Amino acid sequence: MPLTLSVRRADPAALDVPLLVILLGADPELGDDLKALDDGLGGGLSRSLARRDFRGARDETLHLSGGATGPARVLFVGVGTPKDRAIALRRAASIAARQATRMGVGSLAIHAGALESREVEQVGAGLHAGSWAYDDLKTPPPEKEQRAPLTSATILVSDEAAAAEALHAAEAHGAGNALARRLAMMPGNVCTPDLLADTGREIAERHGMAVTVWGQAELEREEMGSFLAVSQGVPQEPRLVTLEYRGAAEGDKPVVLVGKGLCFDTGGVSIKPAQGMELMKFDMCGAAGVLGAMETLGRLKPRINVVGIIGATTNVVSGTAVKPGDVVRASNGRTIEIINTDAEGRLVLADLLVYASRFNPQAVLDAATLTGAIVIALGHTAMGLFGPDEELVNEVMAAGRRAGEPAWPLPLWDEYKDQIKSDTADLKNAGGRAAGSITAAMFLKEFVGDYPWVHIDIAGTAYSESDLVALPKGPTGVPVGTFVEFVLSRAT
Ligand code: BES
Ligand code: MN
Ligand code: ZN
Repeated sequence: MPLTLSVRRADPAALDVPLLVILLGADPELGDDLKALDDGLGGGLSRSLARRDFRGARDETLHLSGGATGPARVLFVGVGTPKDRAIALRRAASIAARQATRMGVGSLAIHAGALESREVEQVGAGLHAGSWAYDDLKTPPPEKEQRAPLTSATILVSDEAAAAEALHAAEAHGAGNALARRLAMMPGNVCTPDLLADTGREIAERHGMAVTVWGQAELEREEMGSFLAVSQGVPQEPRLVTLEYRGAAEGDKPVVLVGKGLCFDTGGVSIKPAQGMELMKFDMCGAAGVLGAMETLGRLKPRINVVGIIGATTNVVSGTAVKPGDVVRASNGRTIEIINTDAEGRLVLADLLVYASRFNPQAVLDAATLTGAIVIALGHTAMGLFGPDEELVNEVMAAGRRAGEPAWPLPLWDEYKDQIKSDTADLKNAGGRAAGSITAAMFLKEFVGDYPWVHIDIAGTAYSESDLVALPKGPTGVPVGTFVEFVLSRAT
């Protein structure tokens, strides 16, 4: 059941809620607005702070019991001493929502002192992110063992009317994040190219966007031999989905968002090891990021044109699959020697980047779980950024920072091009182990048209193999926030 958010101006002491969450910074003191609640609890809150049972460090939590009236339970969550308070509040709100879901309280109120509009928005987005779960494929436990999902949350504010817009934005961010994570979590036999296309159609329908879905015939007509080389091994048709959001005049150049949508990546004939291969269902997180961003933008309705493009297929081992050494021709005429069939994402993106040109973009951002090497370079902390235009790379990095999705640039120098020179074709699709993420980006650059472009490698950040405290293991929603923040900052 979905979470409903509201805002309220109220004394926390008077709230008849099963759980009151209080977000506090480092070395906290209780504000005047919590005085009545503290008095009602016989000074229990201030005593636990004075005893230093709770110090307000990032991710720290302390549960206390409420009184006979007012909130039944109180949960302190620490936000530490953050650089960006809004993003820290989002994280703490997410932890609170996870905790509330574990306890099965069903509803909560959350207090974080005086909140600016962006902070209300991020608290709301955090509540959504923390209460997200993917249970579709699990049999529900017997009734008596079930815990109530978190279905309502009230953010305490001083001005309800002023917070209404922020609440709407929180819902929009939450919905895009949840959509991307839901698609990502679906296994490869559920999240198929057709399912991604249908999801695109639904988003378009909901928000009045134009949508086109191409299959085998259209890709052949457009001579997208690079994309088709990846899809030729699998019986299901590839899907190239284009969503067009019109928020500005018809002639206004759009921002184009491009996503890699490998519904599963076995590696193909250059097959991957069995250990952990199931995680390759997440190889469509770039596409999920585009769809999630389009959902958020469809709700926010910014004054800008945006085009979302995803390339969806599955990389498999089969009698018809492409082989190492095969040479194919991309839609810009360039020939590619396929050295390694596991370097398939760049083959799909190549034709998408050529295709992006026809929208006359003001900027193109592509996101892809493109290389294992980005995990070696930046770990699971930062997305990798690549692009010839340093200013645009910085703009994307700043958008990521505002979204709580850190990113860091890597060089895209001509020296690296030697590694993807082929003996038989114009270039080859794999450049060896050295600088693997950079040579992948160098490959993409060969297909980029006459438009400003940044490539985002999200292989280390789109999902997590371990619990992240604020989020469970699994998909994180990256890069939805980066896409959305970038577009919003370009809107008029
Ligand atoms: N989807 C993978 C990249 C990946 C690896 C994503 C680990 C998430 C976690 C991509 O298609 C791939 O297989 N890349 C190869 C490229 C190599 C063959 C040049 C890689 O990174 O090993
Ligand atoms: Mn691969
Ligand atoms: Zn892949």
